[in-house]
Amino acid sequence: MAALAGVPLEMKEELRKELKSNRELLKILELDIDQSGDGREIKKFNEVIGFCEQVIRIIETYPQNKEIVFLDCSCGKSYLSFVLNTILSKKFAVNTYFYGVDTNKILIEKCDVIRENLGLRNMQFVTSRIIDAQPEKSVDMVIALHACDIATDEAIAKGIKLEAKYIIVVPCCENQIRNRLKCGHPLVDVTDFGLLRYRFADILTEALRSQFLTGAGYHVKLVEITSPKFTPKNLMIIARRKKGNKKYAMDRYKKLDEMFNTDFVLKNYFNERDFNRNDI
Ligand SMILES: C[S@@+](CC[C@H](N)C(=O)[O-])C[C@H]1O[C@@H](n2cnc3c(N)ncnc32)[C@H](O)[C@@H]1O
Repeated sequence: MAALAGVPLEMKEELRKELKSNRELLKILELDIDQSGDGREIKKFNEVIGFCEQVIRIIETYPQNKEIVFLDCSCGKSYLSFVLNTILSKKFAVNTYFYGVDTNKILIEKCDVIRENLGLRNMQFVTSRIIDAQPEKSVDMVIALHACDIATDEAIAKGIKLEAKYIIVVPCCENQIRNRLKCGHPLVDVTDFGLLRYRFADILTEALRSQFLTGAGYHVKLVEITSPKFTPKNLMIIARRKKGNKKYAMDRYKKLDEMFNTDFVLKNYFNERDFNRNDI
């Protein structure tokens, strides 16, 4: 086994090479990365590599004999889970289990076919909304790559409810508060302009998510997983559950939400009572 602690700095390049040479996997996933230009599949390939890199850096810190359980929220065709599964087991000999959940039944059936073709036993795919998923095993990492709009918020809420050690999301379209930024907040002179409103909505959405996670007892870090030339949707929120912290402290989240009059969706997955409890 390659020692995880010895993962080199140029990991992304190594992962890229490793995956490019795994023709069988790419073929089964129907990821044609030999196409030229900035095609959709190359974009997806680079997003997946960037996501895997961050997960591997976290797993370096895990006890190596422990099974790591993932919940891939809005998994779609599950490129991310299949690649992570392959890399973690083949390259690093890490024991893993993957749940994939998506509302699209056809995609979930495709995932089952791919799983069978690859002969993988450590994966289970379920047609469900994220928030309704009921994984039997205790989940270590909730992951979500480009879960549309509020599906990212469902993933965050689910991760908090499951007390996942890590919640790692790369959000997609931040539509929910853009239209609410037209009036009734202190930066209307900025958001008067369509393009600035669009960009500011992205920043505010990720700030609200990050403050919510912080308030729920997570340490939050933001990183970029790829160059923006592959996708502007390259921001990753990495949230690590703090040991022993059992209090919700939503003051900063609430202040931000009220200041911009956003009525942000995340709180809707919880009862007011949840926020006032000290034992969550
Ligand atoms: C842009 S795709 C991303 C798929 C995959 N993660 C990827 O990177 O290729 C978004 C997926 O979210 C799923 N989805 C949207 N809302 C959902 C929800 N509330 N619960 C579960 N899946 C959802 C859609 O069916 C779709 O497959």
